[in-house]
Amino acid sequence: ALGRLSLFIVLLIKITNLTEERHQLLTNNTNLIQLNEQLEELKNELWNFTHNGWIYYKFSFYYVSTEMKNWTENRINCMERGADLLMINSTEEQEFMKKIACSSSVWIGLTDADEEGIWKWVNGSTLTSGFWSNCVVSSSISWADTQCNYTYKWICENNILPVVLP
Ligand SMILES: *[C@@H]1O[C@H](CO)[C@@H](O)[C@H](O)[C@H]1NC(C)=O
Ligand SMILES: *[C@@H]1O[C@H](CO)[C@@H](O)[C@H](O)[C@H]1NC(C)=O
Ligand SMILES: *[C@@H]1O[C@H](CO)[C@@H](O)[C@H](O)[C@H]1NC(C)=O
Ligand SMILES: *[C@@H]1O[C@H](CO)[C@@H](O)[C@H](O)[C@H]1NC(C)=O
Ligand SMILES: *[C@@H]1O[C@H](CO)[C@@H](O)[C@H](O)[C@H]1NC(C)=O
Ligand SMILES: *[C@@H]1O[C@H](CO)[C@@H](O)[C@H](O)[C@H]1NC(C)=O
Repeated sequence: ALGRLSLFIVLLIKITNLTEERHQLLTNNTNLIQLNEQLEELKNELWNFTHNGWIYYKFSFYYVSTEMKNWTENRINCMERGADLLMINSTEEQEFMKKIACSSSVWIGLTDADEEGIWKWVNGSTLTSGFWSNCVVSSSISWADTQCNYTYKWICENNILPVVLP
């Protein structure tokens, strides 16, 4: 009988400890959930931070032009702003771009102007799956090649706070 009693006490202590641990875990978990929500909120505020026409989103600043220029001119314009034309390397970035471009077609930093048929991003990387000629605009539906001398709006991208033109 003594054996069963000590077993009972051991189990009781175990259960009490586990209950306490569960309570702590739940409390900690609630804190974690709240912390996570706060973090997400802060991130959202940060992602939408705008400064002199530049929008911050996930470690890059983006600038959407209001004018329309040809590809070369808008690349120069971006560079004067200390940036370069937008390079899209994720679906998320593509989605974000669509939002900030408000359904306009915009120039992106992709061209085969150097060598016909060889698609290069403005950072020098080659795009292997390309099939366009000339320069590339991104519309709300897809990317399309077009003559580099046509005029569209454009988006500049910079991953540091760009210098502000006077
Ligand atoms: C819950 O968090 C506290 C400190 O905030 C910590 O001391 C405790 O060990 C945590 N409990 C569990 C079960 O992780
Ligand atoms: C930030 O922008 C995203 C996407 O446009 C939007 O869903 C979110 O509500 C915005 N957050 C704030 C704090 O404005
Ligand atoms: C995505 O593009 C940016 C420049 O636009 C670059 O800094 C970054 O390294 C690229 N990320 C990947 C995974 O290629
Ligand atoms: C250049 O940009 C493209 C598209 O954003 C990206 O996939 C690639 O990794 C970049 N290359 C370098 C060298 O940064
Ligand atoms: C772009 O426009 C500028 C100024 O109008 C012009 O000098 C240049 O030749 C044009 N470039 C192309 C590729 O049409
Ligand atoms: C663009 O250049 C082509 C010839 O390469 C010409 O036919 C066309 O008229 C030009 N368009 C504009 C808007 O300058």
